Amino acid sequence: MKFTDEIARRRTFGIVSHPDAGKTTLTEKLLLYGGAIQEAGAVKSNKIKKGAASDFMEIERQRGISVATSVLAFEYDGKKINILDTPGHKDFAEDTFRTLTAVDSVIVVIDVAKGVEEQTEKLVKVCRMRQIPIIVFVNKMDREGKDAFDLLDEIEQKLELRVTPLSFPIGMGYDLKGIYNIHRKNVNLFTGASSKDIHSTTAISDLNDEKLNQLIGDPAAETLREELELATGIYPEFNRQEYLDGELQPVFFGSALHNFGVKELLDGFIEIAPAPRAKNAEERLVKPNEKDFSGFVFKIHANMDPRHRDRLAFIKIVSGTFERNKAYKHVRLDKNLKFSSPNAFFAEKKEIVDESFPGDIVGLHDTGNFKIGDTLTSGEELHYKGIPSFSPEHFRYINNADPMKSKQLAKGIDQLMDEGVAQLFTLELNGRKVIGTVGALQFEVIQYRLEHEYGATCSYENLNVHKACWVDGSVAKPEEMTDFKRVKSKFLCKDKRGQLVFLADSSFSLQMTQQKYPSIKFHFISEFE
Ligand code: G4P
Repeated sequence: MKFTDEIARRRTFGIVSHPDAGKTTLTEKLLLYGGAIQEAGAVKSNKIKKGAASDFMEIERQRGISVATSVLAFEYDGKKINILDTPGHKDFAEDTFRTLTAVDSVIVVIDVAKGVEEQTEKLVKVCRMRQIPIIVFVNKMDREGKDAFDLLDEIEQKLELRVTPLSFPIGMGYDLKGIYNIHRKNVNLFTGASSKDIHSTTAISDLNDEKLNQLIGDPAAETLREELELATGIYPEFNRQEYLDGELQPVFFGSALHNFGVKELLDGFIEIAPAPRAKNAEERLVKPNEKDFSGFVFKIHANMDPRHRDRLAFIKIVSGTFERNKAYKHVRLDKNLKFSSPNAFFAEKKEIVDESFPGDIVGLHDTGNFKIGDTLTSGEELHYKGIPSFSPEHFRYINNADPMKSKQLAKGIDQLMDEGVAQLFTLELNGRKVIGTVGALQFEVIQYRLEHEYGATCSYENLNVHKACWVDGSVAKPEEMTDFKRVKSKFLCKDKRGQLVFLADSSFSLQMTQQKYPSIKFHFISEFE
């Protein structure tokens, strides 16, 4: 197949939602359509049986939350689909934000009863900022939930989206009769049974057709006609370009558990979702169809198998063809590297591949060369933008609890930070190490992993920090900078990249500092112009 055809047939996307909205269930049903798995329940039960297949951590099993981000690929209707799974748990939000730098579009899953939840709001905000095309899937229609119009309203307001339904529910919960596919003009009746194939659909090209009454009964047919008339009046007509530009978001309804409305979603997705998009590097815009390979690391995953202590760096290919055993430039290290066993990901396994194309994710075995955000190219000096660190929410000193294992601890901390599990700050004054995380749960994860993967034990000590502020002295007056460093020496540290960070202990002290040193800029994010 031609290189350009390979690009055109790829769809790389993420499913984002608040935990429990049905992301895992939906993912599994999508895989069923792709023939990538044979039975419902495979994704979850597989998770429990053998960790290697979906690369997740022991701790995930214990807690039942999706800690790891994995890649699932399958073929459907001539398209190569890559799903980048994103943890829904808020403590792992940063992992999800990073994954969103590698997707070309997203599907947002919303629970019809719970409506728009907190995590969904945060994640959609990031998608909106990056103009990522969004499709909304309203799930659990087999349960009693919010009225479709109210919910669409809520989505528009809370998520600041401009929506248009492409399918419409006929009833809900106990009375769910089916779904009307506005786009294709047909009715899919709900039987309650979960099947692999789409339930048979009946074309209703004219809504006034008596056939509709025979299918769903007089009252439901009447209601549907009224609702669709109302919907046509309220919502804009679907326009693909607007969707691609992030200005219009189509909505589908269904029940992932019953595999109902999922095929409509998948078919709709295939039809409208974008192929790999161009990406901005610091130097220039890079297009997928360029001949030279380039890509960036958006995730590093520790190998949980103690017999294989290497890590897997996940690279999103932005341009060109990635070939096995070919030397590529690791831009940050200014070093050429070859990879003899790059992995491609499939639903239940990963396999060594000879070639991968833009939109694909390759997993490269790594013994410590990669950090999140690193760029790999055919030789060009390119730096992909947009994987910044945000100020953590929680801070603690990390101490070595076993003096015999200080080396292991240092190595463990170093590697976990490269993976982006948390951020490390080293105090200038005394060299003490401070760990900053998005959620409290990460401290436990770090402790657990240090012990199980590195044989090191740590203890934590509380530390009162309000925010980590990256110090930008590019236009600072030298005397202000000198005074700031002297007065605040107790609160100054370096992040992993050696950037100066001020750990403000309260919003008040931050404000005072900003007033006292107006020429110094303080950022809550590690990347600034
Ligand atoms: P998540 O990945 O977004 O966290 O959600 P997940 O798919 O694990 O789904 C959360 C719960 O919601 C699961 O129930 C799942 O079976 C249920 N669910 C998903 N889709 C639907 C749907 O369309 N209708 C209904 N009624 N339920 C749905 P659970 O009891 O927490 O887990 P399990 O024991 O069933 O696996």
